[in-house]
Order: sequence, then C-alpha cells, then structure tokens
Amino acid sequence: MTDAAAWREKRRPELLRLFETYVYGKMPGRLKTTRFVVRSMSPDALEGKAVRKEVRVLFSGRETGPAMDLLIYLPRSATKPVPVFLGLNFYGNHTVHPDPGITISQSWMRDNPAQGVVKNQATEKSRGTAKSRWAIEKILARGYGLATAYYGDIDPDFDDGFQNGIHPLFYKPGQTKPAPDEWGSIGAWAWGLSRALDYLETDKAVDAKRVAVMGHSRLGKTALWAGATDERFALVISNNSGCGGAALSMRRFGETVGRINRVFPHWFCDNFNQFNENEDKLPVDQHELIALIAPRPVYVASAQEDQWADPRGEFLACKGADPVYRLLGTDGLAADEMPPVEQPVTSRIGYHIRRGKHDVTDYDWERYLDFADKHLKGR
Ligand code: GCU
Repeated sequence: MTDAAAWREKRRPELLRLFETYVYGKMPGRLKTTRFVVRSMSPDALEGKAVRKEVRVLFSGRETGPAMDLLIYLPRSATKPVPVFLGLNFYGNHTVHPDPGITISQSWMRDNPAQGVVKNQATEKSRGTAKSRWAIEKILARGYGLATAYYGDIDPDFDDGFQNGIHPLFYKPGQTKPAPDEWGSIGAWAWGLSRALDYLETDKAVDAKRVAVMGHSRLGKTALWAGATDERFALVISNNSGCGGAALSMRRFGETVGRINRVFPHWFCDNFNQFNENEDKLPVDQHELIALIAPRPVYVASAQEDQWADPRGEFLACKGADPVYRLLGTDGLAADEMPPVEQPVTSRIGYHIRRGKHDVTDYDWERYLDFADKHLKGR
C-alpha cells in the first residue's frame, strides 16, 4: 500500500477477514437484549482513594443467562471523566485486590489450591492473590481508572465443545458448535471486552474515548484481537502474549501453532489447525494483527525469561507493523534493533523487554502508565 486511503479501504478489511477466517474466527456483534445491572457501589473504597462499582452484564438480559461481572475502580478525586484501563483477569475480580468489598466470584474456575480455588470454586483464601499483577493504587494515583472482569464469565477456559459460555446464545437452529471459521474462546473473550466497553460508554464518570485494553498471556492475545476488531479501544497493551498474540508464528520459536492448537483446541477457530507444522502457508502473520490497530497506540511487552512467548518474535512483529503506522502518519516503532533490557521504546508502537519471567509486574504497569500519559492523556 502506498497511501492511507488504500490501506483503510482495501488492505485493512482484507487482513481483518483473513484473521477472522483462519485464526480467531468471526464473531457476532452486540445483543440488543443485553442489560447492565449495578450490583454494588462504594464512594470511598481503598481508604478513600477510590470509587468502587460492581456491574453485572446480563448478556441475554435474563438473570439466568450467561453474565459477566465488571469491577471498576475510579480515582475518587476525579472531577471529570477519567481514562480507564480495561483487562480480563484469570481467577475472579476478588483476586485483583484484597479489598473485602469485592464480591467473590461464583463462576467455574480452573483448580488452583495454592490460590484458594478448590473444586473449581473460589474461596475466601483467593482474595487478593493476583494483586501483584494489578498496580491498582498506582493506576488510581496517576488519574486512571481500572475495569476488570473474570474471563471465564464469558467462556470457561476448557474444551467442552462450546456448550457453556457465550457461544450457544448465537447458534443458529440446529447448530451445536461454531463453524470452522467462527469464534473460539479467544474470540469470545475479545467480544466480552467489547461488551465491557459498551457498559463503560454508559458510565458518565468514564471517558470511554480513552479506554486502554490490556491483557497478559492468553489474555494479551485477546487484548490484541479486541483492539484489532473494535476501533473504539483507544490504546492496546499486550503483556507477554506470545504465540497467537504479538509473536510471529512463522519463526516457530518457543510455542508453535501446532502445539498451541493441540494443547488449547478451543482457543482459535478450527481453520487455524490447517497451519499446524505448516506455518509458511499462513495467509497472515502477527505483525499484521498489530497493524490492524494502527494508527492507535499499541504497546508490546516481553520478558527476558519468557522464551516460550518469543520476545524477539514479539519485537519483530512490532517492526513489521511499523510501515503501516508510518503510512498513517505516526512515528511507528522508533527502534531499528531490539532495545536492551528495560530500555523502553515509547513511540506510537511501544515496546520493552524486562528482566524476569512470564508475569505482569509493577515495572510493566509503570511503563503502561507512562505510555498512556504520552499517547492518551494529552488528547
Ligand atoms: C500457556 C500457553 C500460552 C499462554 C499461557 C498463559 O503457557 O502455552 O500460549 O499465553 O499459557 O495464558 O498463561
């Protein structure tokens, strides 16, 4: 492409269709029946630093249907609508902070006795177990809000042939599972992020034009796909997303397409299996997923000891998206080579590799806050 209009009108829709058809599967739009119900509200949570809200998203409008619980913290000192980070969590909203006011999730979870999940149910012991991954006080102190939901509320993360979760709501008469080019679980989780944004658009305390979607690992893959498919997301953050996320599949480094499809057969659409041990036949690679986010700011973070997620492949995908960002008039990725450890690149495509392992740390959040200050706050 040599001009922005051709990218916008021709190549972008073409790439989006290829990702839908061969990687994540097509997903439906919003349901007209969806309702938002405020379940709790505290004007002085976290020692007076925050307003806390819990909102239930009733997808079908029915109390008995699939539902997603949103937890929202907003800085109490805010005098106007605030920008918000939105991200899904792995073990329930009550894990992101020890705040006793957060309702413990009743949803099915993967067992994790060490973190207080027993017989697929969360217990009191699981409160705050993920707090090191959510720098809530820092986020609030910098003038941002945080919205989060448990990803299993949208689709429980195991292969049940898509009988539970959100998929059955959309089956045509006689349909029992998604078609080979229809959404798997990552598509469903991304769809749920868009529904969370639908709610945020109705909340007057939130500036819904400045919502950053963020995710770690499988939820980082999800955040990228949500950012690619829903242009209302103003900024996108991929934390250690790896294969099927920010890492280039054709490098076959660390986790591969064949391996991810065998171990997690429900994550992508069935058509993605065509590329098991056959990456060269892929009609797209993951730099083009990042390009679908252009010209909106995107930040990709790797970790040195997370070789499974292929840090270099994640950097090279950013590099591969750079020409599109430049075509659209931004500074793209301001780095020719992979930067040294903990020397972040903060151009419109941001990137860092930090010390340590597969995780989300305060270091990561501080960079995301700096990046959002630079690319969102001023707008
Ligand atoms: C596994 C999987 C990765 C995924 C990660 C996670 O390691 O192979 O693709 O990103 O789980 O979500 O924690």
